[in-house]
This record gives sequence, structure tokens and C-alpha cells, in this order.
Amino acid sequence: MPNNKFTGKILWRNRFAFYLLAVGSACGLGNIWRFPYVAGENGGGAFILLYLFLAFTVGVSILIAELMLGKKSEASLLKITQRVSTTHKKPYFWISRLTLFITLVILSYYSVISGWVLHYITQFVVGFFRGDTLQYISSLNMKVLTDNGWLQFALASVHLIVAGLIVGQRMTNRFEKILTTFIIPVFVFLFAMLLVRSLSLDSTPEVLRFIFYPDFSKLNLRSLGHAIGHVFFTLSIGVGALVTFGSYFKNEDHLPKVGFRVMMVDVMISLFSVLLVFPIAFSIGEKPLTDPSLLFEALPRLFMKIQFGALFGLGFFICLWAAALNASVGLLETLASNYSERYLKSDRKNSIWLITVITLGFTVIPAFSGSGLKDVKLFDQTLLENIDSFLINYLLPISGLGMAFLFFKALPLADQKDLFLDEKTESSYALINYWQAILKFAAPILIAAGIILQIIALVRG
Ligand code: PHE
Repeated sequence: MPNNKFTGKILWRNRFAFYLLAVGSACGLGNIWRFPYVAGENGGGAFILLYLFLAFTVGVSILIAELMLGKKSEASLLKITQRVSTTHKKPYFWISRLTLFITLVILSYYSVISGWVLHYITQFVVGFFRGDTLQYISSLNMKVLTDNGWLQFALASVHLIVAGLIVGQRMTNRFEKILTTFIIPVFVFLFAMLLVRSLSLDSTPEVLRFIFYPDFSKLNLRSLGHAIGHVFFTLSIGVGALVTFGSYFKNEDHLPKVGFRVMMVDVMISLFSVLLVFPIAFSIGEKPLTDPSLLFEALPRLFMKIQFGALFGLGFFICLWAAALNASVGLLETLASNYSERYLKSDRKNSIWLITVITLGFTVIPAFSGSGLKDVKLFDQTLLENIDSFLINYLLPISGLGMAFLFFKALPLADQKDLFLDEKTESSYALINYWQAILKFAAPILIAAGIILQIIALVRG
């Protein structure tokens, strides 16, 4: 079996497991935690439609381009940009530097939110000992956690160190095996059970109207940027992770098909998450749909309504954490493989720990944004909110665009055609021009429009 140079990762023979893994690397907190409240913030139906439109056009197109970039170049992002810079004699390496910086900040931010999940897991255990698990869990107030900088920092550290151990000890394969054979199936089962229960709540008809009836007057100047940013975040576009992932593919894989399927599953999970969370939130009434605490405060109310709710709840949060851990492992691996390729002499383990520590340093900012750094506000928002918004709604789309640009610079037209066209897939001949046009024209125009509209909203206050 061929081995990937850096990770020693065995290329997957089992197609199904590979798909699970591809989907697993895209799905995580972005779908389950972030999408519901961002959709709530932007008024529901119309925003969801916009999100779907963008996922099926710009999102999937760049996703495919990034995978191809990795597969064809068989190198990490830094290497690719160096090559392209040398060939074109232009400083394109700035693209990968920006991208890797974004990756690092995303990982630190992601670790803080993963820490929230860990917190809930520990609170289930506390609840078991108190003997009133569900009562206790549903009485938890997220503010207590977000106001406690040290606790958030400690939880994020645990999360990052576990991710560092998995990558550093070369346990990625074992972890992925546990994920694909055990955790994902259990997660699907728990999710499905909870979804059915949630959809049987009285509020469901109202929720369905909110989600599927597009009221375009609810969109605001920020919505386009929010939708693009979220599509990129949820599909893991613009961080170089897909490039690394693309280099694991075998020759006979038809990447457009893989990319399309991954996008479809990712979108479906996001929609299911809205359908899971909103009926509970609507039936509680007083819960704002627009708050990052939405998932954490809504779900326990559902656990209370079902038999063995505490076990369901604990299982759900453990699976969610495993998904978040998998995403973090992907981010860390991307950073480590780039770093050790660039500075060849540096030992792999050392570079992983170095990156883990630097990332930990960055987590201080989001972790303490509700306590020690509470008074540092920008545009009337806390630092955590600013990181989320600036990173995901501005930087990630720019970096995604950088990937599309690199793709055209690194791969000649013949290679692009070779990778996209597939004799067995007739539609590939019809779609190739659309795909190119989206990458070249629609994506830059939409991304620029999204950013400009957000800036106008900022200036107007
Ligand atoms: N796509 C992941 C999610 O939705 C987040 C992520 C972003 C993971 C970028 C890797 C890279 O949770």
C-alpha cells in the first residue's frame, strides 16, 4: 500500500471508509453548533436558501479545486506556492502564509469552542454524581463558562493537547478507524433519534415555515458575507486542509464526484442540525435564536423529554467532541506538515509541539474575551465575536479565493481538464465550463460583494 510521505498515512483501500473520513473532516462544530445560530441571526429561510445556493456553486467549486491542487502537486500548500512563485517570479508565497496564519487562528478559536463541548461532558459526570443529571444540565448557564477565562483556557488546552498527542504519536490512523467504525455510526443513530423526537414537538410547523419559507426582507447587508463565510468554514475551504487531504487520493478517484458528495452530506447535516435545534428553541420561547449558546442550552431541554435522556445527552456530546477533535487533528496536521516541509531539518514531533504551544498562546484571546479581556471591544463586540466574524466572514473567503487563484497558476489547463473530465461521468463534460466560470468570475464577484456589503454595514453601524 502506498504511503503518504509525511504522515505515513496508508492510502485508503476501502472506499466507504474513505468517504466517511472525507465527510468527517468537513463536518463538525460548524454544522451542528454554528449553522443554527447563524441561520437564526440572519432570519431563517432566505438565508438558508442563500447558503444552499452558495454551497452548490462557489463552495463546491473551490472545494474541488483545492482537492485537485493537492492531488496533482502531491505537496503541502507552502511547497506549492513556493514552486508557483518561482515559476512566475511573483511573491505568491504570501497566499500560503496568510492561509496558514488563518489556519492557526481557526484552530485556536475552534479549540475554545471544543472546550465548551468538553465542559458539557464533564458536567454530565458531575450531574450523575449529584443524582439529578438532566435537571442540573438544563440549569447550566453558558455565561458562567464564557465569563471564566481560566476554565475556557484549561478546557481548550486539554482539547489541543489531545489533538497534539494524536498527531504527534502518529495515532491518526487509529483515531480515524475508531471514528469511522464506531463514533460516526453511533453519532448518526443518536442524531436521528433526537431529530425524530425534536420534530414531534408542537413547534415544528412554525419552525418549518421559518426554515423553508424564504422571507427575503429578513436578509441584511451582512447576510451575503455571513453565508459565504459559513459555507467556507463548514466545508473546510481556504485553510489548506483540503490540499493536504487531496494528496491522499489515488489516481482513479474522480475528484469532482468526491467533492460534490462531500458537499451534499455536509449541507444535509447542517440542515438536520437546524431541524434538531430550532423546534426546541421555538418551544422554549425565551431563547434567542441568534446566540452561540443556542445548541448548548437548547439540547438539554430535549434530553429531559426522552427516556435515558442523560445517556443520550452524554453520548451526543462525546460524539460531537470526537468530531471536533477530528477537525482539529486535520488542522494541526496541515500546519505541522507545512512547517516541517518548509524547515526540513526540524523534527516532526518538535514541530507538532511547537505549533500546539503557539496555538495555545493564541487561545488566550478568545478564552479570556468574556473575562480578563472583557473590556477590549471592537465594533461593540467581544474579541471572541470579532475573531469569529473577522476570520470567518472576511479572511476565510479571501483565502479561499487565493486557493482558486493558486489552482489556476499551478495547474495548466490540460491538467484541469484531465482531472475534471471523466468518461464514465457524462455530466462532467457539460459542467466543466460552469465550474471554470464560477472559479474565475462568480466566486471573486460574490466574495467581493459580500465583503463590501459587510463593510458598508460596519460603517453605518
Ligand atoms: N469544517 C469544520 C466544521 O464545520 C471546521 C473546519 C474548518 C475544519 C477548517 C477544518 C478546517 O466544523
